[in-house]
Order: sequence, then C-alpha cells, then structure tokens
Amino acid sequence: MAEKIIIDTDPGIDDAMAILLALRSPELDVIGLTSVFGNATIEVTTQNALRLVELEGHYGIPVARGCDRPLVVPLGEVGTYVHGEDGLGNTFPPPPKGKPLSLHAAQFILEALRRFPGEVTLLALGPLTNLALAVSLDREAATLARRVVIMGGAAATRGNISPVAEANIYNDPHAAAIVFGAGWPVTMVGLDVTTRVVMTPEYWERLYQAGNRVTDFLRAITPFYQRFHDQFYGMKGATHTHDPTAVAYLLAPECFEAPELSVYVETQGRCMGQTVVDWYGQWEGMPRVKVCLGVDAEAVLDLIYDRLTKPAEDVEDETPLD
Ligand code: RIB
Ligand code: CA
Repeated sequence: MAEKIIIDTDPGIDDAMAILLALRSPELDVIGLTSVFGNATIEVTTQNALRLVELEGHYGIPVARGCDRPLVVPLGEVGTYVHGEDGLGNTFPPPPKGKPLSLHAAQFILEALRRFPGEVTLLALGPLTNLALAVSLDREAATLARRVVIMGGAAATRGNISPVAEANIYNDPHAAAIVFGAGWPVTMVGLDVTTRVVMTPEYWERLYQAGNRVTDFLRAITPFYQRFHDQFYGMKGATHTHDPTAVAYLLAPECFEAPELSVYVETQGRCMGQTVVDWYGQWEGMPRVKVCLGVDAEAVLDLIYDRLTKPAEDVEDETPLD
C-alpha cells in the first residue's frame, strides 16, 4: 500500500519540483499539502501549493494554509531573492481554480494523524512552524505519525543562509527545536546531501526534452533559480537539489547513509538555526534522529529524471495548459 504523506511546504521552485515528483510516485499517497511562509509570504506559497496540485489535475488533494511567521523570532526576509516574487521564478502563472481549506494546517495535520494512526508521514520542506504547532497543540501527535522527514539542517557542512545555518531551520529555529525534540521518528535530509545532488545545465536540458506538462513548467520556473545559484555559488547553470532529495529519501532510502544521532538546534545569537550533531553521544536525554550524511547522488538524479519524464500514471487532466 502506498505511504500516506502530507507535504508541508513553502513553494518555492525546488518545493515545486519535489511536490510534482511525489505526485508522480506511486509509492506515495499525497493526502494533503500544508503551506507555510518561507520562500515567499504565506499568501503566495498557499496559492502555489494549489497551483501545483492542479498542474496535473489532482484537484482532490486538499491544501491547508498554515503559519505566516515563525513562533518566536520576528519574520525575516522571505526567500524571493532565490525563488522570485511569486515563488515560481517570476513567471506569474494564472491563479489556481481551487481554494485552501478553512482548517489551519496544524489542525489538518492533527486530524489526519488521528484518522490514520501510525500511517501518515510528514514531509517538511519549509520552516517547521506548522509541525511544531501541531505537536505542541497535541503531544500525542508524536506517537501518531509514521515518521517525519525534514529537508533542513546542516550537520557537517556549511550553512546556506548564515555560515552555520540552513534556511528552513534558521527561519524558525524554535519550531525546529520542538520538532527535533518531540520524540517522533525524524530523518534530517540536510545540506550534507542536498548540495551533493547537483543538477547540471545538461541534466536540466535532458529533463526539458521530455516536453511534458511538468518539465515544461520546470523549464519556465527554473532559470531564476539557476541565476541565483550562479550569483551566489558560481555554479554556471547548475543547481543544488534540496526538496526533491527529501522525496527521493522516501522513495529510495538505500541511496542514503543516515546514522542515528542527537541534534541540538541553536535558537539564538550568531549561530541561530545551526543543527549541532552530538557525534560522540555525550548529550543525554535527547531523542536520536536519522541524519543523512551520505548519498548516491547519481542514483537520486536518475530516479528524479525517470519519474518526471515518464508518462504519469494517474494524470487526471491531460489538456494542455493555457
Ligand atoms: O535550504 C533549502 C531549503 O530552503 C529548501 O527547502 C528551499 O525550498 C528553501 O525553503
Ligand atoms: Ca522549501
């Protein structure tokens, strides 16, 4: 049976790719999307979540709007310099047909966990505010989730929003501390692996050759993301693969090396958002999480390519986009 997942997300160009990858993966049953601020404001990320479920006609997948700011620290700059003002590379697509649920994202998560105890995986691709709120409202959530897979953090590598912090953790460090400490089974898919899965310009071109609705959409939104990677990292048209790598972890965990370690999240000061790993098991009383440290990048890239370029099995609406 397919694994039920809720994707908590701040789309976002790499979120878009991750969501489309999950929707094209028969091993996963996407039962809902929950939006969060991050790469853009909550208004923008919620609209984008709706657009993404609608792209291949998955109108039945609900979208619940979530938090518009971090739990404690003030809302900082959203990531439009990486993803565009519209979160989709300044392509400004038409508005979605659907609307978000009236239920808050945290409430949606709790209802799903109670309805399917032990069955639902939470895949977090943005700041962890909605998940932290859900588990703070009801501690039982930690026993009801099947697992929590997080794109976020940096264990033994540099940060991407500060010298030590990864953006999703930095954007709400208190939420991250709650989620890492809640005691549910967590996997951290951080920069240690996502920066090693590199999509080269040749890879992107090969993907675009498929000429399907998803790859045409990616062709439109990705140049902005490529420009950011070039300006900041000198990557000459190549990009890191953050959020899709977290989906790949769900599909092919054998491609990852992920030892169980404790992770402390720094919530203040210069190192705010740093995920500090207890490499030698010296800190007592902290839950262990799986920390992805190694990845077979080629296998992950092949997996993503295969899924996005093969004809989709359950595309509900094949009519071309306007
Ligand atoms: O640091 C990378 C993460 O921050 C990704 O989830 C990206 O979409 C942004 O949210
Ligand atoms: Ca994201």
